[in-house]
Amino acid sequence: MENNVPALYNDCASILVSQQEIAAICDRLAAEIQDTYKDSNRRLVMVVILKGSMPFAAELMKRLTLPLELEFMKVSSYGAGTKTSGEIKISLDLKRDDLQDIDLLVVEDIVDSGRTLFRLTQLLKNRNAHSVRTCTLLDKPSRREVDFIPDFCGTAIPDEFVIGFGLDYDEKYRNLPFVGVLKREVYEK
Ligand code: PRP
Repeated sequence: MENNVPALYNDCASILVSQQEIAAICDRLAAEIQDTYKDSNRRLVMVVILKGSMPFAAELMKRLTLPLELEFMKVSSYGAGTKTSGEIKISLDLKRDDLQDIDLLVVEDIVDSGRTLFRLTQLLKNRNAHSVRTCTLLDKPSRREVDFIPDFCGTAIPDEFVIGFGLDYDEKYRNLPFVGVLKREVYEK
């Protein structure tokens, strides 16, 4: 990128998904989601997985005209490198116990190994939600370590170090309005 742009932008080697592409993806995903739940008379709860999904969830939800409730969870997976699918640690949980008659739509910024959403969807189904579906902006299928396919997927991307639109490196770059590839020299220095 050019020298006269902010340092944050200058750390990007390239833009992988532009603001315009993100908007078009959100339009399409919102239409798919509307169509999926249009005949449901159950409560639809969007579960935003902090922190990275925040900008994506905000773009998506304003395109949905179905009645929608909002919840947040913070989860992280561990156990990578083992032969099991690992476990997840929940540091912020749903603020409701009774999930009967509720359709849960879990929103993620990225699916990588798949461990986080594989375990989380299992856990939420075990809590008796009527349905649990997942929506991700980005998918890295080449990185998958468990058998997991998101119900709604923005776009598949190659195995690059991506930042922006919620995605971080060392907690920075989440406020970039696009998804970019981080320059190697930034994380190798
Ligand atoms: C990222 C992402 C997913 C998970 C995907 O979260 O938001 O939750 O990793 O990886 P997986 O498919 O290999 O399980 P991260 O732990 O970086 O937290 P953050 O959103 O707070 O940055």
